[in-house]
Amino acid sequence: MVMAISHSFRFARASLVHHSNGLKSFAFRIPVSSVSTLATKKKFTQPVASLLEFGGVKIAKDDVVRDDPTNNVPDPIFSKLGMQLHRRNQHPIGILKNAIYEYFDTNYPNKFDKFDDLCPIVSVKQNFDDVLVPADHVSRSYNDTYYIDPQTVLRCHTSAHQAELLSGGHNHFLVTGDVYRRDSIDSTHYPVFHQMEGVRVFSPEDWEASGLDGTAYAAEDLKKCLEGLARHLFGSVEMRWIDAYFPFTNPSYELEIYFKEKWLEVLGCGVTEQEILKRGGRSNNVAWAFGLGLERLAMVLFDIPDIRLFWSTDERFTSQDLWSSVPRSLTYSYFHAVFPGPIGDQIQAIFEAKSVLQLFYFGFPPCYKDMSFWINESFTENNLCEVVRGVAGDLVEEVQLIDNFTNKKGMTSHCYRIAYRSMERSLTDDEINELQWNVRDQVEKKLNVVLR
Ligand code: PHE
Repeated sequence: MVMAISHSFRFARASLVHHSNGLKSFAFRIPVSSVSTLATKKKFTQPVASLLEFGGVKIAKDDVVRDDPTNNVPDPIFSKLGMQLHRRNQHPIGILKNAIYEYFDTNYPNKFDKFDDLCPIVSVKQNFDDVLVPADHVSRSYNDTYYIDPQTVLRCHTSAHQAELLSGGHNHFLVTGDVYRRDSIDSTHYPVFHQMEGVRVFSPEDWEASGLDGTAYAAEDLKKCLEGLARHLFGSVEMRWIDAYFPFTNPSYELEIYFKEKWLEVLGCGVTEQEILKRGGRSNNVAWAFGLGLERLAMVLFDIPDIRLFWSTDERFTSQDLWSSVPRSLTYSYFHAVFPGPIGDQIQAIFEAKSVLQLFYFGFPPCYKDMSFWINESFTENNLCEVVRGVAGDLVEEVQLIDNFTNKKGMTSHCYRIAYRSMERSLTDDEINELQWNVRDQVEKKLNVVLR
C-alpha cells in the first residue's frame, strides 16, 4: 500500500519561536537527547508527566485537557506532549533527524539554525493565519485539529513556526518537532508524529547574477537541495517532481522517489508566498520552504512495519543496541553501498536488527472485531477513532469501514472492522472481548449512535 498522503501533507489537498521558547519537561524519567549510557539501557519508564514547562511557563494537564466543548484534546494526547522522540539520539526518529542535519551541515556549513524544542502549543494565528491557510480550509476544523480553546491548538505542522522565525531575522533554518492531527487509525497513521521544516531566504544579489528571476532561482535551488537530501538518505534513486498545492508556497511541489518498487512521497515544498515574507519585513527577499514527515521516512528506511512501534516502551525496541550499534546502517544508502561487498559485521547487524523487528510484528496475531451502528449527522470517522483509541490505546492497529448502506427511511449504517494487535505480546480472548465491549459502550455514549 502506498502510504497515505494525508498524513504528512494535509495541506496539499486543495479542498487542501523563539529560542527562549524551549520545551523543558520535568517529572519525566525519559532520557532525551541522551548519549549511550548504561542507565538508558533500562526499559523506558512510562511518562508520568503532570506538569510541563515551556520557556518558563508551567503547563498543567488541566490547562491542555478540559471538559469544555471548545476543547477536544483527550488524555492520551496530553501524555505525548513533551516526549520529544526527535531529541533521543538513539531513537529512529532522532537518528533520522541527525542524518538530515548531517546533510545540511556538510553542504551548508554553519548556515542553518536548528530548532528542535519549540513549544507544540501554538496560537491559531501561528498555525493557520500566519501561513495563509484560508478561513474555510478543512484543516482548521475541530474534526482535524486538536484545539485547547478557540484561539489555541496543538500545532498540526512545523510550518506554524515559519513566520515568527522569519520576522526574528533567521535566514536559514530547520525546525523539528512533534505535530498533532486527529486522524483515522491504521499502520501509518498516529495522532502524533514528527516533522522537519526547512526554510532558506535569498537576497537580490543571490539571483541577480544568475539571469533568473527570484522565484525561478529559488525553485531551482530548492530542487537541487532536496534531490541531494533524498540521495543522502536513500542512495541513487529515481526521483520525480509533482506539482502540488500548499497555501504557503507558490509554486509548490512534492518530491517522490522510486523505492522498493513503489513511488514514495518524500516531502512537500515550494517557493514561499511573498505575502509571508512581506509580513515578516522581507519584501525584497525570496525564500523556499519544505516540510517532511519523519515517521514516513523512518518506516521505510528502517523497515518499521507499524507506526505505533515508535512509541513502544518495550525494551527490545528502545534498546540502545538495536539502533545505535548500527547507526544508520539500516538506511538504504548504507545497505546499498556495502551490499555488493563481502557480508561483514554490519550486514550481519542489519539482519539481526531486522529480525528483532520481525519478531515484534509478526510474532503476534491480530484479532478482528466488527461493529455496526446507525450513524447520525455529526458522526465522523476521526471521532470514532478517538473513542476507540481512548479505550484500547496502542492495542488498536486499524479501524476500517467495511460496509456502508442507507435504508429506505434514509438511515445510514456503517460497519467497522477493528483490528487489535499488540506489538509486544499475545492478547487473550478475554482481554479483547472486554476491550470490544468497552468500545461499543463508549461509542454509543460518546457518539450518540445506535448500535445494531
Ligand atoms: N506544512 C506542510 C504539511 O504539513 C508541508 C510543507 C511545508 C509544504 C513547507 C510546503 C512547504 O502538509
